[in-house]
Amino acid sequence: MAREAETAADGLSAGHRGDPAPPRPTSDPPTVVWDEPRQLAALEARDITAWFGDHMVLDQVSLTMRAGEVTALIGPSGCGKSTFLRILNRMHQLVPSASLAGEVLLDGVDIYNPSMRLTQARRDIGMVFQKPNPFPAMSIYDNVVAGLKLTGARLGRTERDNVVQECLAKAGLWNEVRTRLRQPGGALSGGQQQRLCIARALAVKPRVLLMDEPCSALDPTSTRVIEETMAELVKEVTIVIVTHNMQQAQRVSKQCAFFLAAQGEPGHIIEHGPTDAMFGSPQDPRTADYVHGRFG
Ligand SMILES: Nc1ncnc2c1ncn2[C@@H]1O[C@H](COP(=O)(O)OP(=O)(O)O)[C@@H](O)[C@H]1O
Ligand SMILES: [Mg+2]
Repeated sequence: MAREAETAADGLSAGHRGDPAPPRPTSDPPTVVWDEPRQLAALEARDITAWFGDHMVLDQVSLTMRAGEVTALIGPSGCGKSTFLRILNRMHQLVPSASLAGEVLLDGVDIYNPSMRLTQARRDIGMVFQKPNPFPAMSIYDNVVAGLKLTGARLGRTERDNVVQECLAKAGLWNEVRTRLRQPGGALSGGQQQRLCIARALAVKPRVLLMDEPCSALDPTSTRVIEETMAELVKEVTIVIVTHNMQQAQRVSKQCAFFLAAQGEPGHIIEHGPTDAMFGSPQDPRTADYVHGRFG
């Protein structure tokens, strides 16, 4: 099994399992056609093994994240959930010492295939982080359309206005900011900033949205608003969420995967399946202990 480091100085190299470096893209990036409907897509990880230098942190992890459903990744800190999530949209390779083996299939197409552009993979599979990270000095409006410029979308003023309204509405923020779209993103509360980040991620019309503990820095009211937003969003975008909150996993997800790493060992999936079954009748005693709060 090859384990060459992926050099990612320019964020474009995709050296994977020792494949020769793919040619740099020469043509324009793919153009977003905003009114084109996007089909719900499944994401399938096959035999993902990951390293930081010589340190193996994930061992042969396979998981299908079903189209149009929320899949929750749960497990104690340090078992590789964030690393797994970052592998799902090729962000893992941004760490110079990082390498990986395995495949990630978006509707059957490996996002690590050299013919798949990095920009395309990141457009199709968006990410929201634990700490809200809008561009603080940029206006709310410009935050939403920020990613669109990178995708080559050429929209007129009216179309852009529509995109901003639609994405803010989907993120559950429109009513709170409609009269102050020109104010800086940094002026919003933490929960509003996180919804602004969701709106920004939606603007490029992703097929999958990855969320790494998106509510762990938020108050309960903001958390509830984001959970309600997810319930609407999942009708058009497949969602994968990492959460340490067991109630949240039960409220938002249909499928669940429990990650665990023994001391000094790489993380792997102990058990996965419908969330109801994972919490109601877990098969593995370690899953039962974790979901009942006995460790982690
Ligand atoms: N940038 C990095 N460089 C080196 N090791 C890392 C890096 N990021 C994470 N790790 C290691 O990878 C393992 C899994 O971490 P992580 O994916 O963040 O787990 P989780 O999200 O489940 O808490 C941990 O042992 C962590 O120390
Ligand atoms: Mg993490």
